[in-house]
Amino acid sequence: MQEAIILVGGKGTRLRPLTNHTPKPLLGVAGSSFIRHQIAKLMDAGVEHVVFATSYLAGLFEDEFKDFSQNLEISYAVEEVPLGTGGAIRNAARLLRGGSADAPVLVLNGDILSGLDLREVLERHRARDADVTLHLTRVADPRAFGLVPTDGSGRVLSFLEKPKTAEECVTDQINAGCYVFRRSVLDAIPADREVSVEQETFPQLVAEGSRVFGHTTDDYWRDLGTPLAFVHGSADLVTGRATSPLVAQPAEALIHPTATVDPTARVTGGSTVGPRAVIGPRVVVDRSIVAADVTVDEGALIHDSVVDHDSAIGSGTVLRETVVGCHAHIGADNELPPQLRLSCGIRIPAQGVRVSGSAVACPSVH
Ligand code: GDD
Ligand code: MG
Repeated sequence: MQEAIILVGGKGTRLRPLTNHTPKPLLGVAGSSFIRHQIAKLMDAGVEHVVFATSYLAGLFEDEFKDFSQNLEISYAVEEVPLGTGGAIRNAARLLRGGSADAPVLVLNGDILSGLDLREVLERHRARDADVTLHLTRVADPRAFGLVPTDGSGRVLSFLEKPKTAEECVTDQINAGCYVFRRSVLDAIPADREVSVEQETFPQLVAEGSRVFGHTTDDYWRDLGTPLAFVHGSADLVTGRATSPLVAQPAEALIHPTATVDPTARVTGGSTVGPRAVIGPRVVVDRSIVAADVTVDEGALIHDSVVDHDSAIGSGTVLRETVVGCHAHIGADNELPPQLRLSCGIRIPAQGVRVSGSAVACPSVH
């Protein structure tokens, strides 16, 4: 029986305020929670049992899957106190059904969208008789990741998590957040304390001479942990640049059947519009996520942004690379500087914030 562990206990701080009430893997991308895309991919690869390593807002995972009736067993390993990535893997391993000490166990970070062929990485792991196989990819700026140089045979030479200096950036090849562990290696991670798989387990295994190999691919790959990556990942799934068994065919936009979009509005670039949302005349929504019950009034422009559920965007307002929390009310003719995060429930009056200056009269007497 092929089994997998998904690490989903992080707080998702870089995606606040969206993650204030929803764990990162349960946020909606391309019409489904992200974790459902991951589950569908695992099932396609023949996985029959998955253990969620949960901590932050753990109960919401069980709510999400309480009616799940497909051919996959789901278990929950809940950490009262977060155990770190290594501790979480070790804790989740208690719930694996078993198999031999050599059984290959898939381990996935809960925020990676990738085109990796999971069967192929399992096959490579077996063929090399590896202790651990790490999926690796190449990125332009590796500083936010784990650096993993390999030799000509693919053997991992070192593992350096989040390098601090330019000298430490010895490669652009990074840990892509998907591993295959030999069961016995996973069971040897300490069980009585917090452990980082990146800072402790991998460097230690390499130093001990364990058989740690990289499987480097140039498939589509994105960590959805930042707002821009999150909206772009969702858009890529909608347009077909990234694939998921849950997205039947590529489209310019994914508009929920209960949403209302004015015929003069343009919803483009892989945007999603959620249930009961109302998009007014001449609105532009490009490469963005508009969640359930949001209203966007006439002429507003929304680019590379997320508007969480039950929020309202006034007419003529411009959002770029903005995260709007739920139940927010952004009045008309605001022009927000890029990369703002607006808290849940916030109220911004008409013309309250403008990059290019406001015509609203000064209320004080001079
Ligand atoms: N259960 C549990 N407990 N899960 C955790 C914990 C914990 O204490 N801490 C983090 N996680 C989960 C997160 O929910 C996420 O799914 C995954 O572990 C990775 O955490 P991130 O916070 O997303 O880490 P990162 O993106 O900075 O770095 C990781 O991913 C990179 C690839 O995107 C590292 O694995 C890097 O080496 C890697 O390059
Ligand atoms: Mg991440």
